[in-house]
Amino acid sequence: MIADQFPALNQKVNNRELVYLDSAATTQRPKRVIEAINRFYQQEGANVHRGAHELSRRATDLFEDSRKVLAESINAESREFVFTKGCSEAINLAAYSWGLANLNSGDRVLVSTMEHHSNLVPWQLVAEHAGASVEPIPVTDDVLLDLDALEAQLKKGAKLVAVKHVCNVSGTVNPIKEICLLAHEHDAVVVVDGAQSLAHCAVDVKDLDADFYALAGHKAYGPMGIGGLYVRWSILKDMKPWQGGGGMIRKVSFDGTTFAEPPERFEAGTPNVGGAVGFAEAVRFIQDLGIETIAQEERVLNKFAESELSALGIETIGGDPNKAGILSYNVDAIHPHDFGTICDQFGVAIRAGHHCCMPLMKRLGLAASARASLGVYNSKHDIIVMIEAIKEARKIFG
Ligand SMILES: Cc1ncc(COP(=O)(O)O)c(C=O)c1O
Repeated sequence: MIADQFPALNQKVNNRELVYLDSAATTQRPKRVIEAINRFYQQEGANVHRGAHELSRRATDLFEDSRKVLAESINAESREFVFTKGCSEAINLAAYSWGLANLNSGDRVLVSTMEHHSNLVPWQLVAEHAGASVEPIPVTDDVLLDLDALEAQLKKGAKLVAVKHVCNVSGTVNPIKEICLLAHEHDAVVVVDGAQSLAHCAVDVKDLDADFYALAGHKAYGPMGIGGLYVRWSILKDMKPWQGGGGMIRKVSFDGTTFAEPPERFEAGTPNVGGAVGFAEAVRFIQDLGIETIAQEERVLNKFAESELSALGIETIGGDPNKAGILSYNVDAIHPHDFGTICDQFGVAIRAGHHCCMPLMKRLGLAASARASLGVYNSKHDIIVMIEAIKEARKIFG
């Protein structure tokens, strides 16, 4: 069983076997990822790019090899892949480097209504600075992006489109290729929030034709505190640094400073080398299982969960027929936090709340929802235990 490879899953919570259904918040990590990180700290543990010694050389090789693995996994070049501490930081990099230099007074930034706050708030901050406006791209009741509306908005002129690949509330898989084509026809760049995609679907940034693509290691079986930003080279090569410090310079003097080439230009300070090594190992783990196999098995489990919920009269949010394994729902009028507490008593870990998507929740007329999200370690048994918790919640709350 795949679950056996994940040490944190092998425990009891509230005297019940743990059922982990919170992978959209963060996935658990397989032993091989934890071991790869441990190995780095036990065998190298040195800083990169600076020491004239063996351990530093090995650390540098591991760091750059990890970059190569990650870049190749999304069909990018190594020089196009900047390490960040997560997906939020990756989008902030895009906003504070590209956005500050390119957004001007009167420019329009189009952000989908289903965006996570991480792909909305940075644009609001930078747009305010530039005197630009941020406008929502509408979504349908089924949480599908309204492409006709987007086209009409683009026709009026826009500098940038910000959209997520996989929705962390509804599991919607957005048609990124189509969106990029539309945006490029109207000279807008596209920033894709890929936080939820690596663990659920294949990503090929060249095929999608994305300009920016942001990633998080911890949502794809990797460690927390590491992520990455892909930027098309023709854009990245001219971008200005957004943070200063060691590692990102060519020459420094009080008369002025010149900067290293990308990606180092955007990696000030000591990087998270152990995190990068763990992230690359997580991607190898996904590759060994095969992303198409993962996606197919997840669709089957998702359908099973939806039919079990539907048998109880519970519908999930979002109508994408190819949705990723993310099930958001409400149990009658029971507050999702109360329902979450009952799940916890059954050893079932779910998330309850607005999922950092307040504009989407408002669009759907909801304050909050419960969310069960799947990973490679989940099985029908996990869904059945969650269904038991729903029945118990109904008993308790009438
Ligand atoms: C769609 C989406 N974007 C961005 C983020 C933020 O990612 P990170 O925690 O790596 O900054 C999340 C995390 O929940 C997410 O689901």
